[in-house]
Amino acid sequence: MIEIRKVQTSDGHRIDLFLESSESRVIDAKHLMLFPALIDPHVHFRVPGGEHKETWETGAMAAIAGGVTTVFDMPNNTPSCITKERLADKRALVEQQLKRVDIPLRHYFYLGADRNHLKEIPRTEQEIVGLKIYMGSSTGDLLMNDREALEEAFRIAAESDVIVAVHAEDEELIQIRKKEFAGQTDPKYHSFIRSNLAAAKAVELAIHLAEKYGARLYVVHTSTREELDLIRRAKNKGLPVFAEAAPHHLFLDDEAYQEMGTKALVNPPLRSSKDTEALWEAIEDETIDTIGTDHAPHTLAEKMKPFGAAPSGFPSIELYFPLLLDAYHKKKLSLEQIVSLTHTRPQEIFRLPINDDVVLVDLEKVKTIDNEHLKTKAKWSPYAGWTLKGWPRYTIANGKLFDLEKL
Ligand code: DOR
Ligand code: ZN
Repeated sequence: MIEIRKVQTSDGHRIDLFLESSESRVIDAKHLMLFPALIDPHVHFRVPGGEHKETWETGAMAAIAGGVTTVFDMPNNTPSCITKERLADKRALVEQQLKRVDIPLRHYFYLGADRNHLKEIPRTEQEIVGLKIYMGSSTGDLLMNDREALEEAFRIAAESDVIVAVHAEDEELIQIRKKEFAGQTDPKYHSFIRSNLAAAKAVELAIHLAEKYGARLYVVHTSTREELDLIRRAKNKGLPVFAEAAPHHLFLDDEAYQEMGTKALVNPPLRSSKDTEALWEAIEDETIDTIGTDHAPHTLAEKMKPFGAAPSGFPSIELYFPLLLDAYHKKKLSLEQIVSLTHTRPQEIFRLPINDDVVLVDLEKVKTIDNEHLKTKAKWSPYAGWTLKGWPRYTIANGKLFDLEKL
């Protein structure tokens, strides 16, 4: 039996926790605070096909290190996850890898929308967490931007009661701007090419289709004031439209190109500080429901390629809780808001079964992020060198205790 004594709860009480174990141990938790373990509704753990960037062995370690015990994995794999059979293959590989590291990470998969495989939606409705539509191109080959296929996807998803998650960037507008800025070598042009307007236009269409067919809509990584205004309006109309924000759009802006160069590339791109402000406002008025890390590891060598060849995306799953806890100390959000964004809202929106996974946090701990100690296989972070206050100390996943100082 493991006894965890006198951990603080957010409402000011102290409780003892008891864990079934062959080990006999007492942990003094007087200086620790109890949180429900985090849910990350947006990760790319790269299996199958991208194992040199991340696997579920390294990804699960990174999740646990960040207090995350539930993840939703995206379908832009190689091959992309667009059929029941490919889902089953992926599940088998993932479960093998989790077994190898003995981490009971709760995992859910998105089905990728492909115009020739929309019949897979009802075939897989019981085993997926949602349907992911790439309205704009990104890593992988899952682009579905023609109107007819989009209409069909929303119709079938609504009929199957499957939530539609959209990567909302308008491909046509991206391609026009790409031509306009062809030959530019400065990575800052990424943010011009993938404009605010491209994001807003796609969100507008997604909301229209969701309303037309009665689908539930989840807009991943919202990054602009314009998208948030559209989503706010849809929510006010009573539509089941939900918004996710990624940590990089909250904690970084387009100034980052100067220091980070091509490492700063991400889709949707980093935006102006005005957009960042709009995101924080949208957290305040609950237009933003969840935080999804969009943990998208690429090797440093890949990220250092020239603009045009370097891939988009950041690893971040193990740092999003510390980033939020640090933001709490800076009075940017409350502990209640953190719990809502990282646990309660994703659980409600995706109708997840309740579990008793928790994370014990040392709110006073101050630590500087260094790449060397990261668990992600990518071993780099856009936040390297940042000093944050508030770090998880123990994660309990499915009754198993992880001491994060010994991970
Ligand atoms: O920056 C991104 N990286 N955005 C995406 O939409 C995909 C992701 C990836 O898988 O690399
Ligand atoms: Zn993503």
